This record gives sequence, structure tokens and C-alpha cells, in this order.
Amino acid sequence: MTAKKIYLRSFGCQMNEYDSEKIVDLMVDNGYERTDKVEDADLVVLNTCSIREKSQEKVFSELGRIRDTKREAHKDDMLIAVGGCVASQEGKKILSRAPYVDIVFGPQTLHRLPEMVGKVNDTHKPQVDIRFPEIEKFDHLAEPKARGATAFVSIMEGCSKYCSYCVVPYTRGEEISRPMADVLIEVAKLAAQGVKEVTLLGQNVNAYRGETPDGDIADFAMLLEYVAEIDGIERIRYTTSHPKEFTQRLIDAYGKIDKLVNHVHLPVQSGSDRILAAMKRGYTVLEYKSIIRRLKAIRPDISIATDIIVGFPGETEEDFQATLKLMDDVGFDASFSFVYSRRPGTPAAYLKDDTPQEVKLKRLQILQVKNDAKATEIAQSMLGTVQRVLVIGPSRRGRGMMAARTDNNRIVNFVGDESLTDTMVNVRITEVNPHTLLGERV
Ligand code: SAH
Ligand code: SF4
Ligand code: F3S
Repeated sequence: MTAKKIYLRSFGCQMNEYDSEKIVDLMVDNGYERTDKVEDADLVVLNTCSIREKSQEKVFSELGRIRDTKREAHKDDMLIAVGGCVASQEGKKILSRAPYVDIVFGPQTLHRLPEMVGKVNDTHKPQVDIRFPEIEKFDHLAEPKARGATAFVSIMEGCSKYCSYCVVPYTRGEEISRPMADVLIEVAKLAAQGVKEVTLLGQNVNAYRGETPDGDIADFAMLLEYVAEIDGIERIRYTTSHPKEFTQRLIDAYGKIDKLVNHVHLPVQSGSDRILAAMKRGYTVLEYKSIIRRLKAIRPDISIATDIIVGFPGETEEDFQATLKLMDDVGFDASFSFVYSRRPGTPAAYLKDDTPQEVKLKRLQILQVKNDAKATEIAQSMLGTVQRVLVIGPSRRGRGMMAARTDNNRIVNFVGDESLTDTMVNVRITEVNPHTLLGERV
């Protein structure tokens, strides 16, 4: 008998992608093989995102396409499953909008997918489970499997910050940290399979409060120290951190742990205190800048990335100017900026929003131009420096060239042997181009 096939598509953030890998691994353990062709699949899984309206709408158009393929390929037995944050938010309502969907599961019930597939096959009735049955999903997942030299490890689930614009606390539940030993074992197993760079994942990794084997509570700084001790791990990243719990202990970790990359993604959302308060972010611009100042005191050339929302309800020109000023003050290396998207059920959805969409789009454009200029300036300043990079594999530039990634997420091409793939090497930056850097091994 040939193995059944699963087609999976991820629409969301890194946590969503992490969940996707776990879903595939789990189904492989249950006798499935992965396929990249919908028409060959016995099970199609869309792992969805509802952070902005556009992300959510993408899911429904993709579902329509899948239904058509199922019909055209005469795959009557194909099951269609919707997981992730849209599933969590909409639940059964997905079935009224897309009645051909067989399974709806949430980010905290993904481990139940094999069982739900069995139930649909037995009963021919759609199955919906979007509960938050606590963190025990991790106890029902497949053994961690490395896919190259980089890997993601979830350290906490959910979010309890309830920023006024955001769906995440409703779609993924409240913050729960995984016990420290579980995280360390997962990292160690990945390291034993050749992983050198680990990215610790969570909506607010610095809210981590993991139980230790002695029954104490470890904070994020302590977790980082332990992860850094694991043999084989050479580089540690994390995402996303939140300014509210960016403690001095975490800042000090940058002085103690060389393996922590010289890069941090710390979303600020706005440079106006009035807007930050309306967003319920829980910090002021001054507090944000104080974190950056203290980080730079320890790592002067640390690269800072951020997220910015433009056009939050009530954002005036003056508020927007304050955001531009903050960008100048901090000198972000990257800012992931989006126009505010009204999310039903969130408190901000009820705020008066009288800024025309064209004005918001114009603000976004101004912000992105400013961001690109700064990113180019930072790349220029890397000329002549020596960077420790993780080699990804042969470069698209052609023969003899290898591609690698710097701490601050830039691709460097350099002459090197394919055997360097998945290793860390030092390269000197010899040329800076708009989208890539050139280097030579030192
Ligand atoms: N937990 C992280 C970010 C999670 S969501 C944090 O708090 O920083 C990723 C990004 O999506 C956010 O940083 C924010 O910039 C953006 N985002 C979230 N909700 C949004 C909305 N309703 N409209 C536009 N952007 C939004
Ligand atoms: Fe959303 Fe705020 Fe939680 Fe981030 S911290 S996931 S923006 S509620
Ligand atoms: Fe999207 Fe859910 Fe992630 S809403 S951004 S997939 S946590």
C-alpha cells in the first residue's frame, strides 16, 4: 500500500511555521508522506493567520482553490483541514463559509489531528476542536527533527498582553511557558542532529517563566544561559521579545553570552506615547529608548529590528512624526511596518478611526523609504568588517560561490567549498550591493 500524502501550507508567523513543521512530523509518524501537489494529497492542511484582514482573506481564497482542485482531480476522499489562528478565531463558522472543510483545529489542539482525521473517516462528519487544553500539546508531538543547521524551538505559547489591536491572545490563549528541562532537551536533541543555530520562539519570549527541575522558576535570561551551554549550539536567536519585560538581567545576558546574536527584534509599534497608551503596550517611548541605550552600552554595534503599526485609530500627523523621530533616534536596521487592520472582537475595533486610508498608506510609504535608507547605511558600514556567518549552501550567483547569513540577517556571498554548508565561518565584507554583500573568508 502506498503511503497517504499530506499537503500543508503555512500562512503565518514563525510560531505558525513551527507548528506547521510539528504537524508534518506528526502525520509522518502516522504513515503520511509530504507532497507539494494539492492534487496528490489525501489530507490538505492550511495553517492560517488572522493578524490582519489580508492574511485572513488569503485563507478563504486558497480554500476555494483547493476545493476546485479536489473536484477536478476527482479526489473524493481528500480531507481538508484548517488549523491556526483563523481556525481558532472562527471555529465552526468556517464550516458555514466553506462547508467542504472537514477539520477545524487550533494552535493548541494540533496534536489531535491524527485522531480527528480518523473520526472524519469513521463518521463522515466534520470535526472541530479549537480548545486551549493547556500546553500538553508538546507531550503528544513527534520527536524533534532537524532540517539543516538552523532550528526553531517554542519556549512559550500564547500571549497575555492584550494589546488593544491584536487577536493573538484570543487565538492562541494566555501565556504558558514550557518547563525549562523540556526546552533544553529539545535543543539538545536538535544539536545532536547538527543544529548550530537555534531560534527560541514565543509571542513574548522575555515573559518566559519556566519551571525548573527543582520546582523553581527560570526567567528568560536564565534559560538563555542554559541553552548556551548545550554542546553544538553556536548561535542563539529569539523572537519576539516585548519591551515591557526586557529586564536588566536580559540586557546583561548580552555581556555574558557570546552566542547571543548581535541582533534583537524588539517591536515598538509607535513613537508616540499617546498611541502606545491607546494600544495598551505598557511602556513609553523613553522606556523603549532606555532599553536600547543599555543594550548598546554592552553591544555598541547591535542591530535592532522592530515592528511598527501606522494609522492606528486616532493617529495624528504629530503622532506619526514622533514615530519618524524615534526611527532616527534608534536607527532601526529593519522595521516591519503595516497599516493598522481592524480586527473584530479587539478593543481597538470600537475606537473612532477617521484617518483616510490614503493618508495611512502615504505614511507607510514614508516610513518604508526611511527604513530602506537606514538599512542601506548600516550595510555600507559593514564594509571591511569581519562577520561570523552561518553558511546556508551554494549561492544563487553561481559556481564556486557560497551564501551565508550574518547576525543581522544579511546574505553574504563568498568563494568557498560546498562542504562549508551548515558551518560557521568568518568572512570579511568586501563589497556592499543593494540586496547582498560580497565577502572573502578570513
Ligand atoms: N508579540 C509581538 C508581535 C506579534 S504580531 C509583539 O507584541 O511585539 C506581529 C506584528 O503584527 C505586531 O508586532 C504588529 O506590528 C502587527 N500587528 C498585530 N496586530 C495588527 C493589526 N491589527 N493591524 C496591523 N498590524 C498588526
Ligand atoms: Fe499581540 Fe500585543 Fe501579544 Fe504581541 S504582545 S502578540 S501585539 S497582544
Ligand atoms: Fe498570525 Fe497567529 Fe502568528 S494570528 S501572526 S499566525 S500567532
